[in-house]
Amino acid sequence: MKRILILSAAAFACMAFQTAPKKPLPAKPAAVGSANSISASLQRGKQVYTTTCLACHQVDGGGVPHLNPPLDGATGVVSKDKTRLVRIVLKGLDERVELDGEYYSNNMAAHTDLSNQQIADVLTYIRNSWTNKADAVTVAEVKMIRAKIK
Ligand code: HEC
Repeated sequence: MKRILILSAAAFACMAFQTAPKKPLPAKPAAVGSANSISASLQRGKQVYTTTCLACHQVDGGGVPHLNPPLDGATGVVSKDKTRLVRIVLKGLDERVELDGEYYSNNMAAHTDLSNQQIADVLTYIRNSWTNKADAVTVAEVKMIRAKIK
């Protein structure tokens, strides 16, 4: 009896070991700089993008013709004007503005539920994915801009 108990305890320990959650391997950072914090931000940003933005802007950042603009290769996305980017995420965009010579008829909703960290991460992600390359957006910058545009 004792022996069975010991055996099953050992089996259980073994199972627990095998099912322990594996740490996901960090994706190759697509980007600028070697700082770990940037690759961590890109990882988190990809998750935010996948759950919040992908349905409209698509996995390849290519958007949907005439409906949702592409983020890949968009001058506004890699622009120095981070205030505009944070504003679009927080306030949405339905102005039918011309974006790189095209108009898009869908509306982008406001994403006020995202934290400063999530916004910094997702913007860093779209600025450094596909063919885009631009400097990261930091939490401090988002915090400052959010306070300004309230
Ligand atoms: C419901 C669909 C939808 C979702 C979800 C969405 N967007 Fe948009 N996005 C749009 C549309 C449509 C526009 C253009 C609106 C216009 O022209 O008035 C746009 C515009 C933009 C622009 C401006 C592009 C440029 O060329 O300057 C950025 C940046 C952007 N979205 C980022 C995001 C991010 C980041 C997320 C996720 C947090 C997101 N969008 C989620 C539909 C969406």
